[in-house]
Amino acid sequence: MIIKIRPESFGYIAFDKRSRKHRFVTTDLPASTLARQDMLTQVGKIFDCTDEDIQLEFVGDKVRQRLSAPLCLYLEITRYCTLRCNHCYKPEDPLSQAMDLDDFTKLLKDARDMGIFEVRLCGNEPTISPIFFEVCQQIQNLGLFLSINTSGIMNARTRRRLIDIRPDHVVVSVDGNQATHDAIRKPGAYAQAVELLHALQEANIQRRINCVISGLTMNHMDEVIALAKEVGCGISFIPLRTMGRSTEFKDEFALTPKSMYQAVSHITAQKQAVPEVPLETFFDILGNGFWAHHTMEINIPCPAGKNGFVSADGTFYPCDWLRYMEGRFACGNVRQSSLAEIWEKSTTLQAFRQIVRKKCLDCTHYLKTCYGGCWCSYQESMDCGEYEDKLCFAPLISAGKMPITAGG
Ligand SMILES: C[S@@+](CC[C@H](N)C(=O)[O-])C[C@H]1O[C@@H](n2cnc3c(N)ncnc32)[C@H](O)[C@@H]1O
Ligand code: SF4
Ligand code: SF4
Repeated sequence: MIIKIRPESFGYIAFDKRSRKHRFVTTDLPASTLARQDMLTQVGKIFDCTDEDIQLEFVGDKVRQRLSAPLCLYLEITRYCTLRCNHCYKPEDPLSQAMDLDDFTKLLKDARDMGIFEVRLCGNEPTISPIFFEVCQQIQNLGLFLSINTSGIMNARTRRRLIDIRPDHVVVSVDGNQATHDAIRKPGAYAQAVELLHALQEANIQRRINCVISGLTMNHMDEVIALAKEVGCGISFIPLRTMGRSTEFKDEFALTPKSMYQAVSHITAQKQAVPEVPLETFFDILGNGFWAHHTMEINIPCPAGKNGFVSADGTFYPCDWLRYMEGRFACGNVRQSSLAEIWEKSTTLQAFRQIVRKKCLDCTHYLKTCYGGCWCSYQESMDCGEYEDKLCFAPLISAGKMPITAGG
């Protein structure tokens, strides 16, 4: 197995493609001076395999900032979509479509040079971009981990091509059961998502389901779990966020801390009942079945500080949600500056990294099982009361209004 090693100020990060897991390893000496055998032994212990099974591949050009480079770079390859899902935060915005293939080529080379491990093609709907397959090919040629987030809406030819290029990881959205998914997306959408999941399974391509938890879907999580079991994958249950478009859906189906508690409580119970299906969610603080949604090893406010997002016009944001904050979090444009320059010098990004989740500091879960929830949620409403993410239910537990153990 190939393990990528990226030197960092604290030691190094080891990335395993098979499990898509990162491990942050702290060392006294810089990673470049460590004896190869010592590193092989350390990495073998981490990934539970023998030294002979491991091939180390060193990546990254320079140690910079708290992280040399993002772990994963999200690329908005298009602002077009085949659907107009009721829950979706993203409007279509074809006018912002400015990056062309040459821009992507330059950006991807920067990403490779910096030692970025994964590139996630997202959209709106990435598979409809006219340059989708070319960009996939470039990512693969550069030896980067190619992941794709799709609704599964595509014709048979595109589905075949997608399977044939063998991406490293495909995330397919499934929002509840057939009835809720089709009500949110469009009639027939569920069948296509399931078809893609079966095709990925048959081709043995790593896959995952993304399920948005809302008032409409939260009573149908078991059906998604049954589907995941059938197609052999895990699920990331993402709480509905109320930024961006789709106000009507949100007015009707937004979550509250209480309903988020109920959802997490149910997911926690299902982790025990169906251990073969890896389940991830936010505020995973009930029970012991913790499965890290994002690495907690480095004290950065949320995944946004560890990953990066490039919008279709080339603007870099710490994450897609932060685009909806009146441009306050735009960190530069990759068509004008190199990615490395933005990552190292953007004062906006530097300020973002300094954010301390003050209201989480006293919470025993902070940076152990919860990284403090969604920063945008706080920024958006500023009415989260005691805690920073308006869906955090820790105050309900502290006040004795909800039990600390999971229900069913
Ligand atoms: C914006 S979509 C892009 C990829 C693709 N078109 C799809 O539907 O999977 C990425 C993910 O964001 C989720 N999403 C959309 N709107 C959301 C919202 N308001 N809150 C939380 N997740 C949302 C989608 O369900 C999907 O899993
Ligand atoms: S969730 Fe995905 S498929 Fe649905 S409208 Fe948004 S981007 Fe398009
Ligand atoms: S207080 Fe902060 S760290 Fe604790 S559960 Fe809530 S969001 Fe997570």
